[in-house]
Amino acid sequence: MGKQMKAATYKEFGGKETIKVTTVDVPELKEGEVLVRIKAAGVNPVDTAVREGYLKDFLPYEFPVIPGWDVAGVVEDRGFSARRFNVGDEVYAYARRPKVQYGTFAEYIVIPETYFARKPENLSFEEAAGIPLVGLTAYQSLYDAGNLQENQTVLILGASGGVGSLAIQLAKVKGATVIGVASEKNHGFMKELGADHTVDYKDNHVGNAVKEIFPDGVDLIFDCASGETLEQSLAALKKNGTLVSILNHGENIDKSINFHYVFVEPNARQLEHLRELAESGKLKVHVSNTYSLDETAEAMQQIQTLHTTGKIVIVP
Ligand SMILES: NC(=O)c1ccc[n+]([C@@H]2O[C@H](COP(=O)([O-])OP(=O)(O)OC[C@H]3O[C@@H](n4cnc5c(N)ncnc54)[C@H](OP(=O)(O)O)[C@@H]3O)[C@@H](O)[C@H]2O)c1
Repeated sequence: MGKQMKAATYKEFGGKETIKVTTVDVPELKEGEVLVRIKAAGVNPVDTAVREGYLKDFLPYEFPVIPGWDVAGVVEDRGFSARRFNVGDEVYAYARRPKVQYGTFAEYIVIPETYFARKPENLSFEEAAGIPLVGLTAYQSLYDAGNLQENQTVLILGASGGVGSLAIQLAKVKGATVIGVASEKNHGFMKELGADHTVDYKDNHVGNAVKEIFPDGVDLIFDCASGETLEQSLAALKKNGTLVSILNHGENIDKSINFHYVFVEPNARQLEHLRELAESGKLKVHVSNTYSLDETAEAMQQIQTLHTTGKIVIVP
């Protein structure tokens, strides 16, 4: 019998009751792959969307599914030709494979070493596990799709959550001016991360509130919230400005707007860059709560509220 591990699993799409924490086989280690002992796994809203079946026509899957795409851990074994890392190295990854099956809410994961970068040395495993998916999303949205430049102004909708809290910091690294949108209770948090201005979406028309600060409007809107907040914010986008959304695919967006939808891709080179930024003190992760593997269903219920401050993490 091969190695076994504890893992959260589900055998059908549905709500939190589908999650069962059980013992499963650790997959066999193949060419180019590493076996990583998971120390912490970041939880993301998409984990619940996948569990509820919303992405089933878009991402191939095989039951039982172990949910979770973010991981920080330690290399425990290496397959043939997997030599980028040594046994004992501390690594982190956005571990979304082409097929949804073996995720990170487990004690171990086996995946190609190409997914991994070295974990930031100055961060705990919990903090590091909170970076990959949201950090790469912010990176690919602001730097790649949004082409954010120094001295530009960026409006971030949903700026106190996982993606937004990393986006504020990455925008500041570029030298941009940042306006963060979230509810009042998170304004101090967004300021601590570097936001120059904050706007409450609950008591304001977001676009009008932004125009009071910047009458000429903003160069870039990064949308991590959508809905009415997005609709209102468009009033504050400059004529030649850019809109990047990770939720809206372009529905009801005026064709004259320079619009990009981003779906985050694994990218170990960008993860190395995020590591450098973390190690130079420019990127921090606020872990607002940790959960055990047995509490996976509760962690997924919390992330589904879309009102988590910073990140939550499962520690197996
Ligand atoms: N396409 C992609 O590649 C991709 C990647 C990552 C995430 N996403 C999606 O993007 C969304 C954000 O992800 P996340 O991980 O950052 O979620 P999260 O950690 O739950 O953060 C949600 C954020 O949105 C704010 N918010 C909630 N309702 C709002 C509203 N009506 N107007 C403005 N802000 C609002 C929250 O602030 P308050 O608590 O103060 O309300 C919080 O700052 C999720 O729906 C997720 O599925 C997509």
